[in-house]
Amino acid sequence: AGVFTYDPGFSSTCSTQSSITYIDGDEGVLLYRGYPVAQLAEQCTFIEVAYLVLNGELPNATQLQAFDQSIRKHTMINESLKSFFNGFRYDAHPMAMLTGVVGSLSAFYDDTSNHKDPRHQEIFAHRMIAKIPTIAAAAYKRYFGQPFMYPQNHLDYCSNLMHMMFAVPAEPYHVDPVAAKALDVLFILHADHEQNASTSTVRMAGSTGTNPYAAIASGIAALWGPAHGGANEAVLKMLGEIGSVKNVASFLDKVKDKQSGVRLMGFGHRVYKNFDPRATIIREHCHKVLKHLGKENDPQLELALKLEEIALSDDYFKSRALYPNVDFYSGIIYKALGIPVNMFTPMFAIARTVGWVAHWIEMVSDPTLRIARPRQVYTGAGERNVSALDKR
Ligand code: CMC
Repeated sequence: AGVFTYDPGFSSTCSTQSSITYIDGDEGVLLYRGYPVAQLAEQCTFIEVAYLVLNGELPNATQLQAFDQSIRKHTMINESLKSFFNGFRYDAHPMAMLTGVVGSLSAFYDDTSNHKDPRHQEIFAHRMIAKIPTIAAAAYKRYFGQPFMYPQNHLDYCSNLMHMMFAVPAEPYHVDPVAAKALDVLFILHADHEQNASTSTVRMAGSTGTNPYAAIASGIAALWGPAHGGANEAVLKMLGEIGSVKNVASFLDKVKDKQSGVRLMGFGHRVYKNFDPRATIIREHCHKVLKHLGKENDPQLELALKLEEIALSDDYFKSRALYPNVDFYSGIIYKALGIPVNMFTPMFAIARTVGWVAHWIEMVSDPTLRIARPRQVYTGAGERNVSALDKR
């Protein structure tokens, strides 16, 4: 027996060492491999950031080209995966399809999943990052009953995703570069966030030596919940329920009444207790994108701003250090780009795949890796004897 500490929700337990992402929750600092996320969002593409998160350094032009080419090369999915999609009910949530189909990749690539082989690690990383948009877009198409669109490898990462989601074979489709750039910035902001629930899940599953695609599927499952990646969808649903600015005060009264069980979605964070630096960038970005799309008078944006303003001056939220998080605004941008609400969390999953993969590689490369095996505080019955069925 050892000495164990009970730490519900792992508020103060470090499960690993990591050199990928640094967060200072009090100061609102978020660095990927030492670089402030705001600088990366301003100056880099998502693919450059993906290279950085995976490899530890920003790529030079040659490295970037090789990485970009490799990602483009792997965008297609096995044709037989189409029948997986067709097996889902037409109204299956895209996150359900994503969890299932990514899990099924383990059946296709088990032969290149030797954890210790750096070539296998690399091909896993490139396949996962390249295929997740194709899979998410196919889930979208399945949901709408439209034909799947093959990837177009002359397009950059986010333009390709938009094409796969919004194009139809019958008509030409031109990706709006401002919209694709907006998506790219959102993806940079979501690329990694150290030991959040989904990444910890990937690490926990991965620590057993399971197939890495299966480990990523477990991360997608964890991301789906409204307390984590599902918050972006929940924010839009909440704005829909509130309806208009005049209902904000009564909605906040409901939130403050603990009996109601209603939370202000998109507010609060386990680590950020001052502000979420991603939310600050996204808020600014949101205005730019909506202006470009001619949607700056979007009533939901107006409602969100009012909600934010009132909540930020309210003692309930102030005393608990609850501020808007990244997902308070991401949904508004996604919606403006024409992405339906149930695709918001798959968007988050596409971006976070980079982080999941980087953490999996960091973990399996660690010679001190041990299986994740938390303990518990047992609260059940003491030892007792089984009585015969007719005596119970
Ligand atoms: N609305 C109302 N009250 C809240 C909220 C909220 N969104 N978040 C926390 N609280 C209250 C909570 O009731 C508790 O109050 P009290 O001290 O009186 O019991 C206090 O604030 C501390 O909350 P907690 O539940 O102990 O905080 P946590 O660190 O366990 O939870 C959280 C963090 C993000 C799950 C939570 O703030 C939440 O549920 N937020 C809404 C969902 C959301 O927006 N999630 C996205 C997170 S950012 C994207 C990502 O990385 O996944």
